Amino acid sequence: MKYRSIIVTRRGPPEVLQVVENDRRPPAADEVRVKVLAAPVCAPDVTSRYGQTPFPPKIPFVPGYAVVGIVDAVGRDVEQAAIGDQVAAITVYGGYGEAIYLREKELIPVPAGLDPAEAVTLILNYIVAYQTLHRTAKVNRGDKILIIGASGGIGTAYLQLGQLASLTMYGIASKNKHHILLEYGATPIDYRSQDFVEVIHQKEPKGLNAVFDGMGGEYLKRGFSVLKRGGVLVGYANPLGYARLFAFLGQMALLHLLPNGRSAKYYGAGMFRFKRGMFMEDWATLFSLLEAGQIKPVIHQKFPILQAAEANALLESGRVIGNVVLVAPDLL
Ligand SMILES: NC(=O)c1ccc[n+]([C@@H]2O[C@H](COP(=O)([O-])OP(=O)(O)OC[C@H]3O[C@@H](n4cnc5c(N)ncnc54)[C@H](OP(=O)(O)O)[C@@H]3O)[C@@H](O)[C@H]2O)c1
Repeated sequence: MKYRSIIVTRRGPPEVLQVVENDRRPPAADEVRVKVLAAPVCAPDVTSRYGQTPFPPKIPFVPGYAVVGIVDAVGRDVEQAAIGDQVAAITVYGGYGEAIYLREKELIPVPAGLDPAEAVTLILNYIVAYQTLHRTAKVNRGDKILIIGASGGIGTAYLQLGQLASLTMYGIASKNKHHILLEYGATPIDYRSQDFVEVIHQKEPKGLNAVFDGMGGEYLKRGFSVLKRGGVLVGYANPLGYARLFAFLGQMALLHLLPNGRSAKYYGAGMFRFKRGMFMEDWATLFSLLEAGQIKPVIHQKFPILQAAEANALLESGRVIGNVVLVAPDLL
């Protein structure tokens, strides 16, 4: 028996993604085999394909930062997971496939009944927004925040979680996407025709409590400048390449030296490797919010898993609002 997955055959545009067949082997002793139901298409999938991340994987590799699926076989030493369980994992690579082999300790339980396409957006995009809001910036009801990159996968997660936390939100996005910001009560700022620093100085002369920056570059310094005393800038953009990584670290260090009562912090979801307990707790919170209907992931489009190239092309086109998700064909 075979299953298919998507590999990056060389660095480049979405066309380099190709379908390959693999043998469907039994899982190793500590592994489970998962039938993939959903995998998000997200910014790190794109940058790793182009080789823009500081430590890009060797070619060929299977992209795919996260999965939700059903356990369909278990290894002999597996104790908790059982066939039929709905589970998720943060994989970083490997999610674009009809099946994936995971170690039992990597599994995140997913409550039954949740839509896999919605649930899988919580594993990366929502955890970034949730943890930067509540663990890094530690926002309080009524705080004033700016979201740089408010219309994308992480941006729309901020909009929903920010509304839930009763924050006053400003968001930077393309003009044709402002309706989504307005839907969640945020004040939109168009980065092409408006200077966000001027807008914030005018509307919030005392400054903001927190700025969440998914872009980096000039946005770091300028975002820092709209903070009030005691405010915090949280940068989570993935620097493209070593030069930008070092420039980013230099900028962050410089911001720290400024004696003005403000601070700059970097957030990386890669910390899930070292803070598993904290991540499990936060994923459980997010699943509860989804079950209760308190969050509703914005899904721009779903594609069959094997059409990952089209899905990546759509994400790269800049037309997307919210998330693009690959799903098993029976879920379309
Ligand atoms: N640190 C971490 O753990 C972590 C995890 C995941 C992702 N990331 C990083 O987070 C960033 C955002 O990811 P995402 O998944 O939300 O991406 P996405 O869904 O592709 O959205 C990209 C966002 O960037 C905005 N944008 C593009 N050009 C812009 C500009 N010149 N000025 C202001 N905004 C601009 C887009 O706005 P419009 O479409 O409205 O123009 C859109 O809101 C990426 O750098 C990604 O690599 C970091």
